Amino acid sequence: MQEEERIAELRRTLHAHNHRYYVLAQPTISDREFDALLAELALLESTRPDLADPNSPTQRVGGGFTDQFEKVPHSRPMLSLANSYSREEVEEWADRIHRESAGDTRFTCELKYDGVAIALQYRDRQLVRALTRGDGTIGEDITTNVRTIRTIPLTLPESAPESLEIRGEIILPFAAFEALNAQRKEKGEKLFANPRNTAAGTLKLQDSAEVARRGLDCFLYGVLLDDPAVFGIEGHDEGVRAAERWGFKTPLVLERAFEVARDVEGVMAFLVHWDEARQQLPFAIDGVVIKVDDHAQRRTLGSTAKAPRWALAYKFETEQGLTRLERIAYQVGRTGAITPVAHLEPVPIAGTTVGKASLHNADQIALLDIREGDMVRVEKGGEIIPKVVGVVLEERPEGSVPHVYATHCPDCGAGLERGEDEARHYCPNATGCPEQIKGGIEHFASRRALNIDGLGTEGVEQLWAAGLIRDVADLYDLTVEPLLTLDRMGEKRAGNLIAGIAASKEIPFERVLFGLGIRHVGETVAKRLARHFGSLRALMAAPERELIELDVVGPAIAASVVQWMADDRNLTRLARLERAGLKFEVERSEEGPTSQVLEDRSFVVSGVFSIPRDELKRLVEQHGGRLLGGVSGKTDYLIAGEKMGPSKREKAERLGVTILTEQAFMSMLDS
Ligand code: IVH
Repeated sequence: MQEEERIAELRRTLHAHNHRYYVLAQPTISDREFDALLAELALLESTRPDLADPNSPTQRVGGGFTDQFEKVPHSRPMLSLANSYSREEVEEWADRIHRESAGDTRFTCELKYDGVAIALQYRDRQLVRALTRGDGTIGEDITTNVRTIRTIPLTLPESAPESLEIRGEIILPFAAFEALNAQRKEKGEKLFANPRNTAAGTLKLQDSAEVARRGLDCFLYGVLLDDPAVFGIEGHDEGVRAAERWGFKTPLVLERAFEVARDVEGVMAFLVHWDEARQQLPFAIDGVVIKVDDHAQRRTLGSTAKAPRWALAYKFETEQGLTRLERIAYQVGRTGAITPVAHLEPVPIAGTTVGKASLHNADQIALLDIREGDMVRVEKGGEIIPKVVGVVLEERPEGSVPHVYATHCPDCGAGLERGEDEARHYCPNATGCPEQIKGGIEHFASRRALNIDGLGTEGVEQLWAAGLIRDVADLYDLTVEPLLTLDRMGEKRAGNLIAGIAASKEIPFERVLFGLGIRHVGETVAKRLARHFGSLRALMAAPERELIELDVVGPAIAASVVQWMADDRNLTRLARLERAGLKFEVERSEEGPTSQVLEDRSFVVSGVFSIPRDELKRLVEQHGGRLLGGVSGKTDYLIAGEKMGPSKREKAERLGVTILTEQAFMSMLDS
């Protein structure tokens, strides 16, 4: 039984070290020693499957796979918070409660973490379940993923109650968010917009090992016990302090992030402090939360159906930064679209330093009369790129001149063009402008197109600078030797790149077509064209009006395709790619429909189903149906899942589109 004891001992030791490292930030052993103990435990566990434990420290790295997140009712509803947007509102609320209780109220003040709410259930001092908020009454079981979050204890000490529920917020710190986006950019994947969305998306991943890598964190904001007084807990403050002793990460680890205020002035001081200090936090908050501390007093105040009367959120205004606009520069995208970019004196906004911001287009610059040298207001909304939203005219330097919008491409010098109804300017030199060509190659290699690993922005730049590529077709002439002369390019990386390029020859035609980067031909259009025409030759031979007749292809797209196909340089490229062995035909066995029961019918799929939505879409196509992006007059059927927005349903009803449940759709396939 020695083995069994050692396993138990290792688990205890590792849980304690984990707590010291992640929650207290005071490790007492080195990472190497920690890893050695973990390896010993993993080895022992592999020989004793009978002692398996989902809460073992070895489970932190994930590995569990959740096919579908089970819906589970909450022990008590997860309410939301009443919001307020001005200090006056907070003052009135706090004043009223203070008066009603004859001046005897303590308020706890804490941060409003901008993440995803979580309910953690412990039985026998073991984490048994983690539920999302869901609709507040029923949540989704994401325990496997939550176990990988290092600051959430999997087991509790003897001093903790046997059964307990903790409510808190799962967040993704800025540093982890930025590292993740940097990786995605390198791989040519779509960037995440903000840490909150990313945290939410991460918690719903099926592969918990990926969740473990992303660096989520958790702050607790509520301790739920059947009878807290038994544990000497009469109010929120005492609850949070107890939870800290039980191993949870509480706001007490941060300076001034959890305060008890004895009066309204104390509450106001907290608000004023964080309105400013939030800039320095390593994670996002969107306000602060004021709560009545005392449990008995909370019971008297009670709740409405939506929110407790004993708590109030104060939401900050969207964070703005004030800084100097050093100069206006221009960027060229792969389609030739010109984006004006503000280069700023670096300014901290909402946790990150902002040095560049978007200026939209020529009209916007003229409308706001933005000039180089101006003090500008910069805002970070939900988007990735901050934007300039205004000018402080009083601080305009003397002698400043209105900005004259670029007339020529900053990269190749070609005269810019602007369509009649278009907000944007374009560089028309599609085949000669280096930025456009590089952007085009990057797009070609990106994950959703030809998926060539190691060929993101930097990779393309490197090959370009060395003169090794001037066209996507050049990729297929590359060999290992010339690559080896490049910086940071050893045998291994060079070999991988060549292998990645070779593997791209197996990518289906529709993705090759998408990868060509024809203006307006996105994934959906490429797929539709590929399926309809079956081959590049057939597509090239088709007259413009045949293209327009396809439902997802409008006149603008058709014209763009025809124009692209008429350019000699594109034809040369296509010939080279075809010779290199890329797929220019649909492979019927894989891509073609397996039945035609849905032929000539169009579908929109929306909501959550018992199978992944992509799987459902594949079924539509496999049986000859057509997928549309949104409900319109051309839609025959809307397959409606759970959580589909009401506006979609209304629109479908208005347009007489038949609405199908998942079951109804399935029986259609059987017919
Ligand atoms: S207390 C019954 N405290 O805000 C009161 N919520 O708008 C329940 N949130 O769904 C919430 N930080 O996810 C509370 N310090 C905090 C919070 C907090 C963030 C979130 C929570 C809730 C939402 C309500």
